[in-house]
Amino acid sequence: MKLFDVYPLFDVTPVKAEDVYVYDEQGTKYLDLYGGHAVISIGHSHPEYVDAINDQVSKIGFYSNSIQNPLQHELAEKLVSFSGCEDYQLFLCNSGAEANENALKLASFHNNKRKVIAYKNGFHGRTSAAVAATDNLKITAPINAQQFVDFIEFGDLRSTEIILSQGETCAVIVEVIQGIGGLDECATEFYKGLEALCKQHNTLLIADEIQCGFGRTGDFFAFQEHGIEPDIISMAKGMGNGFPVGGILIHPDIEASYGLLGTTFGGNHLACRASITVLNILEKEALMQNANKMNEYFISKAKAIPEITNIKGRGLMLGLEFRFQVTELRKELIQKHNIFTGSSKNPNLLRILPPLTIQKAHLDVFFDALKEEL
Ligand SMILES: Cc1ncc(COP(=O)(O)O)c(C=O)c1O
Repeated sequence: MKLFDVYPLFDVTPVKAEDVYVYDEQGTKYLDLYGGHAVISIGHSHPEYVDAINDQVSKIGFYSNSIQNPLQHELAEKLVSFSGCEDYQLFLCNSGAEANENALKLASFHNNKRKVIAYKNGFHGRTSAAVAATDNLKITAPINAQQFVDFIEFGDLRSTEIILSQGETCAVIVEVIQGIGGLDECATEFYKGLEALCKQHNTLLIADEIQCGFGRTGDFFAFQEHGIEPDIISMAKGMGNGFPVGGILIHPDIEASYGLLGTTFGGNHLACRASITVLNILEKEALMQNANKMNEYFISKAKAIPEITNIKGRGLMLGLEFRFQVTELRKELIQKHNIFTGSSKNPNLLRILPPLTIQKAHLDVFFDALKEEL
């Protein structure tokens, strides 16, 4: 059977991975500055993570959500201590799109409205409501056109207000730092203004922290920097370090009822144990602090390279902008220097999303390779 051909592939076949390195069949070692698209948070195959997953699957890996699962409560408690989201409620699922799908659906259930505001260049996933709220016609099928979404320029509060005042919008969904869109972030006034407008118009504010959350920016959630309190926060990617797990944090004002949301696999024992272990290691190894430290080092090195016209992002969610398109540069980095990097909608932007365990010596290797190619 052929694979459904939906991805352009690099000719690399990883068979093993350890911390910031991925190894192919021939034993060639690649430096991973892409983290499998911002997924690897605590490093590949972290020994404590491997032990925890082995231990959990040997006891119980899965049972349906019709029983008590103390691991879900343990994960919820830990999330409070990292995020400060006291009294929020946790709903677990399996991916980022599913987290946003549930967030949007919950908002609509809550205030009984049906329109959504999303921002240009945003990405929220490929399922029904999530893809409809994603500013990319190429990935939106005719079946998704049944959703009512207003796309507004990122940062445009005035247009947001005009649409909100029509009273039909159930939710505003926003990536605090846009990922695939190219690492744009607005000033605090925008996020604060958005929070106030949403309250005023009985609309829920959904912070999509799927890529920028779980410690990647040096804060646990990127919105914390702006001092806002979103109604729903969606998470995935770094949450499981590769184990498929997602979730939403839900403001205490939003009430649950049986049947409102549901899932077969979401919140299973293995997923919870994976995510709890990620949080334990984030804390034990001070990885958010490391993200901040490595950010400073990265920026100081990047500033010394004249071909770089702009340095974007926070913590270890970074982008380097050039005057030229980076497709060839990425190819050279992977084929000649064995370094994985990421791309974005902005063709001139190289994205850097390494495991949060990365050290200065690894960044030195990257910058030496970059200088050689420029
Ligand atoms: C900001 C953001 N939201 C949602 C998603 C969708 O997540 P998933 O691919 O796990 O469905 C992504 C994935 O890249 C993302 O970056």
